Amino acid sequence: MTGVFAGAAKLISVLAGAGRSFWLPAQRSVHGARVDDLFYFIFWISVFFFFVILAMATFFILRYRRRGEIAAQDSAHHNIGLELIWSGIPLAIVLVIFVMGFRAYMDLATPPENSYEILATAQRWNWSFTYPNGYVDSELHVPVERPVKLTMSSQDVIHSFFVPELRVKQDVVPGRYTQAWFQVTEPFEGTVLCAEYCGTSHSLMQSRFVAHAPGEFDAWLEKAADFVSRLPPAEAGKLLYEKRGCQQCHSIDGKGGIGPTFLGSFGSRRQFVDGSTGTVDENYIRESVLNPRAKLVAGFDPVMPTFQGRLKDPEVQAIIEYIKSLGNGG
Ligand code: CUA
Repeated sequence: MTGVFAGAAKLISVLAGAGRSFWLPAQRSVHGARVDDLFYFIFWISVFFFFVILAMATFFILRYRRRGEIAAQDSAHHNIGLELIWSGIPLAIVLVIFVMGFRAYMDLATPPENSYEILATAQRWNWSFTYPNGYVDSELHVPVERPVKLTMSSQDVIHSFFVPELRVKQDVVPGRYTQAWFQVTEPFEGTVLCAEYCGTSHSLMQSRFVAHAPGEFDAWLEKAADFVSRLPPAEAGKLLYEKRGCQQCHSIDGKGGIGPTFLGSFGSRRQFVDGSTGTVDENYIRESVLNPRAKLVAGFDPVMPTFQGRLKDPEVQAIIEYIKSLGNGG
């Protein structure tokens, strides 16, 4: 029975534009068809009953409108046949919706055994993804045609991992791990979005999503992972600034943000919230990366997460060299 409905829903979704429609972006994962079938199934049932109810309401309004004074009559009390029909049909419809939804949900909630595992960390307001070789990037790169499992946690508040083309959305919660999995069907570039309001820059909490063609993912990972040893420190620092979420809060053009700008900051004097002052030097930057609340610059909120254990020493040095390269304010 559900097969017939799923088939009809499939036909409708294909007619609506091969996975891409006014309502939904293109399907790029194995979940796509199931999620969309269910959506269109419910959608077209709603459209159908909208017109049925509208037509019947119009008919009754015209047919039984008040025409002069007539005495009120007893109305019918029971009609077993009618009552069975108006209970049975909705029951059948919601059961079909339940079975389709439950099966798709169980599939979405159960990553295959052989999944490629990537760790995802959410924090206000960026994503970071840790690959099996230890490489960390703010962009999510995955191989196509292979199940990918994300094990996700949050450093602060509740976020939600969402890539529309994958039809996968999963809350990322502090203090526990949640999972999501998907299998991309063809190479494409998309966007990882945060789908749970998490504060000031929630709408900017985005990352690039790249699904690599077969064979290209491993090459990408190998090349991406050793940039700190390959590049001059200031250039590696620039990449770290982009990849590790610094740019969400610290501008490099002098504009104010969630945190102080990096432009011309090296060597400048800083006023801290506790009234003391200090100079931005190597030790200050290192301390601020590893323990952001030790010396909080006046006028900014204590929202920066620690990078203790998440940036290695050569990476912190690269960031220091990058900040130096952005001009000396002293
Ligand atoms: Cu993170 Cu919204």
